Amino acid sequence: MIFAAILAGGIGSRMGGTDTPKQFLPLGDKPVIIHTIEKFVINSKIDKIIVLTPENYINHTNHLISEFIGKNDDVIVIEGGETRNDTILNSINFIDENFGIDEESIIVTHDSVRPFVTHRIIEDNIEAARKYGACDTVVPATDTIVESINGRTIESIPVRDYFYQGQTPQSFNIKKLFNLINSLTEPEINILTDACKIFTLKDEDVYLVEGEVTNIKITYPYDLKLANTILEDGHD
Ligand code: CTP
Repeated sequence: MIFAAILAGGIGSRMGGTDTPKQFLPLGDKPVIIHTIEKFVINSKIDKIIVLTPENYINHTNHLISEFIGKNDDVIVIEGGETRNDTILNSINFIDENFGIDEESIIVTHDSVRPFVTHRIIEDNIEAARKYGACDTVVPATDTIVESINGRTIESIPVRDYFYQGQTPQSFNIKKLFNLINSLTEPEINILTDACKIFTLKDEDVYLVEGEVTNIKITYPYDLKLANTILEDGHD
């Protein structure tokens, strides 16, 4: 089976100015999270969509889905975790307990606050996860990357051609991800901020899928303004 995990367990602290997590703020005529969920609902290859939110937003999310998308048994809202990685783990455990995981099971994990993910990106993710076991969506870095360890002076300026900016989705063969997670040592678990890092840490390949510059993540208030402009420009 192919699962999507919509990661919406964060509180959006960098957004400021509101108690409402950014994924529930309006973008055009519906909340950000609804734009995102819709992208996966219309993809016929995705069997189940697991939406992971803070515990006190589960009911609200279910109401939003009923209102904007309609009743859909393939969309399931459950509680996210303390960190983004914990939220991914919750989705995998939920899948394991409710559907089982076999050699073919794929998970497409996506930030709820990237509402402009395209059909092509999702299709490429499914294909790459099937073929290679793991993939990350990226765009080439456009700014020069400067490395500074002390925050005052430059350590090095790496060759820009080798650098990419990570977006989402990140997609995996679930069994492979599950086995790798179970092989992690305690210090390894503590340095992991990203599911793809689990693969690189264990010397497993993570394939690059081409993203889009419009596949932005809403992090700061300015990003929400930008998202409205992208929407007005014809992306939905
Ligand atoms: N996320 C999650 N579970 C967490 C933390 C984050 O599912 N415990 C999700 C967010 O809801 C978001 C995505 O991961 O869709 C990207 O994370 P980020 O932009 O950092 O979101 P927040 O953690 O909500 O933002 P901030 O760091 O500003 O608090």
